[in-house]
Amino acid sequence: MKQIDVCLTPDLLDLHRMENTIVVVADVFRATSCMVTAFAYGVKSIVPVATIEECQRYQERGFLAAAERNAQKVEGFELDNSPFTYMDERIRGLDVAMTTTNGTLAITKSRSAVKVLVGSFLNLEAIASYLRTEPYDVLVLCAGWKGRVNLEDTLFAGALVERLKTSYALAEDSAIMAGRLYEQGKDNLIGFMANASHIRRLQKLGIQKDITYCLQHDLYDVIPVLRGTSLVAMEP
Ligand code: MLT
Repeated sequence: MKQIDVCLTPDLLDLHRMENTIVVVADVFRATSCMVTAFAYGVKSIVPVATIEECQRYQERGFLAAAERNAQKVEGFELDNSPFTYMDERIRGLDVAMTTTNGTLAITKSRSAVKVLVGSFLNLEAIASYLRTEPYDVLVLCAGWKGRVNLEDTLFAGALVERLKTSYALAEDSAIMAGRLYEQGKDNLIGFMANASHIRRLQKLGIQKDITYCLQHDLYDVIPVLRGTSLVAMEP
């Protein structure tokens, strides 16, 4: 039987094997929710990069560039990391370069996997349905916060575990933990996450609507997948 495992933070990624494995990267608040939204609104590609300098180099080559650090837009870049920024006709068909505090770093660290997919609550069922058809094991990589575990990405991992539990064996305790956490919190995710670190961080910056938006389940069918150095929308 195929296995599903959960890596609770990129700092633990070396403990997991990538062979024969599809990695689903999740940074629910907000990088991967933002990417899923961008593709749903017609962005052509997103190059995820780990550093601001790399993002600048893409910007110099004509890419639209998005840079976020500590939940704020970095000066000199066109775009930030809010899903609402990408609900704009003007980004349709464009190539974007993006760097974020945790999400893009987690994607770049996953490159040796069979495939790297971008997951969020917004495209949860699309990801689950696709994985059911694949022969590979799954590793959910939670982007966390600067090496620490966070609640929202662990809850996403648990939601995917719940959707896949009849077709996959749970590899390790992190998958069991994530599944049980989601089971406990799923009826009221906002309440369950009250006081979570990144919710407090975002609220301090006055960013409230992104929180409720990113917790919506199954809004889009789009699956961003890494092809070479770029994310593109998987062909239906
Ligand atoms: C990240 O990559 O850490 C984030 O998406 C942070 C944020 O802007 O909310």
